[in-house]
Amino acid sequence: MYDSKIVAFAKYVPENIVTNDDLSKIVETSDDWIFSRTGIRERRISLSENTSELCAGAGENALLKAGISPEDIELIVLATMSPDYSSPSTACIVQKLIGAKNAVAFDISAACSGFVFALSVADKFIKTGLFKNALVIGGETTSKILDWNDRATCVLFGDGAGACVIERGNAGGVISEDLHSDGEKYDSLTSSFIPLNNVFSENTKDCCKWLRMDGREIFNFATRKVPASINSVLEKAKLSLDDIKYIVPHQANSRIVEIIARKLKLPMDRFFMNMDKYGNTSAASIPIALSEMAEQGLIGEKDKVIITGFGGGLTWGSAIIQI
Ligand code: UT7
Repeated sequence: MYDSKIVAFAKYVPENIVTNDDLSKIVETSDDWIFSRTGIRERRISLSENTSELCAGAGENALLKAGISPEDIELIVLATMSPDYSSPSTACIVQKLIGAKNAVAFDISAACSGFVFALSVADKFIKTGLFKNALVIGGETTSKILDWNDRATCVLFGDGAGACVIERGNAGGVISEDLHSDGEKYDSLTSSFIPLNNVFSENTKDCCKWLRMDGREIFNFATRKVPASINSVLEKAKLSLDDIKYIVPHQANSRIVEIIARKLKLPMDRFFMNMDKYGNTSAASIPIALSEMAEQGLIGEKDKVIITGFGGGLTWGSAIIQI
């Protein structure tokens, strides 16, 4: 077995900013309701770039920061719940867009936990020696799967992509992890249903195209499962919260983060949050956050960080990563 090391974080978000006030002109809502219930002030909504293009932007930026040329990348693992197509994978489109000719590329579907799952998969390929490096991307254009008449969901999400490069290294990478799914609750968050469609079947009704979510259910599930998951990765790594520089939660809702902080008896300044600027970008939220933290000098060489995601599936998972 080899060790792995995370060498670069990067992001790419669409330029177009949509504020809460902008949304109050489309649905019956207000900046006050959205901010007080979620911590979100604005989000990016793509006007022209699809998921593959946002992911290619984040991927290219990560390769530049890592000083690796696209031809030298051996693996691309991409997490999304808003792919360009059902087939091919968005990762294969990114492979073409960035010129990563020699990579193996595939997608992971784990909704808002997607980046944690994707990083875990890439880390194992590195540790087993099959590949020497990997580009891990989380990216979404959730705007195309939202019902823009449903104020309960359309105000929450945003578009964007984040990425990291992980490679064979001396120490670091993913130190411990804790991944879960609960398919019993799959219908708590669904989107882009593809109905049966053939000449032999009458069961062809087109329903459930847009994202539907039981917000309360997801809220309660997240505040129940995430603290236990964080304690689990600490226990597996024989570390305590004192060893951790920051906790980087999926950026769904600041009230969820406040409850997690209370349950872990940690001050809020140990958690990084940027949902005020981007909303919930699903699989992209954690790598966008890590990228901003690196840019702001909040994390650097040898720092240990806990990333923790939760969402549709249901899925949830945490990992301790060392930079
Ligand atoms: O990424 C992972 C997946 N998603 C999540 O993590 C989301 C988790 N859930 C949440 O963040 C919260 O449950 C929400 C932000 C979605 C909702 O907050 P809430 O405190 O659970 O509100 P609610 O759904 O119970 O709605 C309260 C009221 C309702 O009105 P009534 O029935 O009390 O009269 C809603 O109709 O707020 C109303 N409402 C709104 N009002 C203004 C719902 N959406 C809006 C809105 N603007 N955008």
